[in-house]
Amino acid sequence: MSIYERFAYFYAKGPYPQYSRRMVELLPPVLQRFDLRPTAILDLACGEGSFAVEMAKKGLQVTAIDLSPQILEFARRNAARENVEVEFMVADMRSLDFEARFDLVTCWYDSLNYLLELEDLERTFQGVHRALKTGGLFIFDMNTIYGLAVNWQRYPCVVQQDTTELFEIHRPGYDFEKNIATLRITGFVKEANTWGRIEEEHKERGYPLEEVRLALKQAGLKVLACWGNIKEMSEPEPNSGRVWFVAQK
Ligand SMILES: C[S@@+](CC[C@H](N)C(=O)[O-])C[C@H]1O[C@@H](n2cnc3c(N)ncnc32)[C@H](O)[C@@H]1O
Repeated sequence: MSIYERFAYFYAKGPYPQYSRRMVELLPPVLQRFDLRPTAILDLACGEGSFAVEMAKKGLQVTAIDLSPQILEFARRNAARENVEVEFMVADMRSLDFEARFDLVTCWYDSLNYLLELEDLERTFQGVHRALKTGGLFIFDMNTIYGLAVNWQRYPCVVQQDTTELFEIHRPGYDFEKNIATLRITGFVKEANTWGRIEEEHKERGYPLEEVRLALKQAGLKVLACWGNIKEMSEPEPNSGRVWFVAQK
């Protein structure tokens, strides 16, 4: 079964969109540092669209793709509510089909960790390279192996949401041979006077940073920065749970 189907509702209603809203705030100093004033942006794996919509509100031309039609429904409603135009498309980031159209490509909040084969990551980077104009930037984050193997595994069960209409728990696991974390998500949503139950199993792979760097280089993207903290723009530490990359075509 696909992921981000019924969970899309939990994602849109939950704390998750706060992350990409935070990226809206943290992006301008990064663009300034690398002297990029983008007009056309592609947001990969855009989820419920908060980042794409905020960028469109700033007057940028935004294209945003995601594999899940269900989550894109929330993104479209989000754009309509804010009265902005965003070109939302159901698409797989492993097979991007754009030619030199964008100044900036972004991909936030674990999305690249959902690619479980190195080949998938490489194909995505090649598609990003094709999609970017020369000089354009690709800015993204990923959970590190430490983040998935240690931070995610601290508690056997975490209550993510507990409201009058939603209840959601996460149960993690980790395969140390494959560097793949598994998250069993169980959710309950109030529908009329009953509670409906959903289950999804999400898998995220951690990649050694050197492997990510090499895949970017092989795709023709030059790594300008790799940070363990995007606000401070500081080097990753051994215990950084997340890293941010800036790469240029
Ligand atoms: C954790 S969410 C992040 C969403 C959004 N970027 C944000 O910051 O809130 C991960 C997203 O990746 C999408 N996704 C996973 N694999 C994908 C793929 N191969 N192509 C496009 N989207 C994908 C999921 O549907 C989901 O919306």
